[in-house]
Amino acid sequence: MTPPLAQRTDAPRVLARCRELVRPALGRAVRRLHPWHAEITAFSLGWDGPDGRATPGAQGKGVRQALAVLGAEAVGAQAESAVLGAVAVELIHTFSLLHDDIMDGDETRRQRATAWKAYGTGPAVLAGDALFAQAVQTLAGAPGGVCVPAVRLLAGTLDDLVRGQADDLLFESRPWTGPDAVRPHEYRLMAEQKTGALLGCAAGLGAVLGGAGRSESDALTAAGRHLGVAFQAVDDVLGIWGDPAVTGKPVHSDLRRRKKTYPVLAALAAGGPAALRLGALLRTGEALDDHAVRRAAGLIEEAGGRAEALAEADRHLESARACLESVDLAPVPLADLLSLLPYFVERTV
Ligand code: IPE
Ligand code: MG
Ligand code: MG
Repeated sequence: MTPPLAQRTDAPRVLARCRELVRPALGRAVRRLHPWHAEITAFSLGWDGPDGRATPGAQGKGVRQALAVLGAEAVGAQAESAVLGAVAVELIHTFSLLHDDIMDGDETRRQRATAWKAYGTGPAVLAGDALFAQAVQTLAGAPGGVCVPAVRLLAGTLDDLVRGQADDLLFESRPWTGPDAVRPHEYRLMAEQKTGALLGCAAGLGAVLGGAGRSESDALTAAGRHLGVAFQAVDDVLGIWGDPAVTGKPVHSDLRRRKKTYPVLAALAAGGPAALRLGALLRTGEALDDHAVRRAAGLIEEAGGRAEALAEADRHLESARACLESVDLAPVPLADLLSLLPYFVERTV
């Protein structure tokens, strides 16, 4: 008997169901890698080894896999039709984190050392490249009729992802204030590209692989992109005020590297005495020590940057909901998708 809707759409259950569906194919893809890359990938995924079980607390929740599976179900297809897409997206996600941690100089993720700290920068770069190649190869195995649009969606996503990452890095050397300062709309585009594109791709790929028409796959892609901006705004908040014991990531590393994250940009844009003091502190150009970083975090909060970043996340969540409700989707998978939305803004890890 099918369980009642309220029980079936319980978000942890939805995530677990999708993870379990995708896990065997993901394991096969990892084992197709060079053994060295398979080991680094397994470590990054929070597994004991390429064949091993999950290491508790070191695994992602699998929101991208879930978006792919639910994308297919939402357009009336079997969940299984999305598995290749979910695997490809998970491989790209892992690749992007391997390279991102090198670019950001971050030493911890998901409560453990980052791959470049554990294995060295060269091996981590190469493992990322191997994952990229494996993702494309995986998706190239999609059935004839949907293969080309699926690979096209992934290729466009990769283009967006590297553009977003480029701007994220370039923004580090832009001034905090004045005519060349990063504007909130520039941040939004960067966040949509570096984080939203892959979430949009996940949901859109599910629809494409499920044989959906253009309007459904576009709506699911757009919803995922909004979720990405919401996710990133919250990620930025956690990067300043998150508890590293809970997030598994270093705290304040964004501030130290002068990353132009949304809470800081919003605080500076707010004007008023706290924003002015924050601007003066950040403009000094000197390395921010622990005391300066704590003072900056206090001023960002006082100027309203934290509240505005969370409000921005809520706005994008609502836009995602509107995208999902703009087309005719199957009601149960739609309810499953809607049940996941709070995960993008209420998460602590
Ligand atoms: C990550 O952006 C985006 C990609 C990996 C493409 P961030 O650098 O802001 O994310 P975290 O905080 O390291 O996860
Ligand atoms: Mg990072
Ligand atoms: Mg980064």
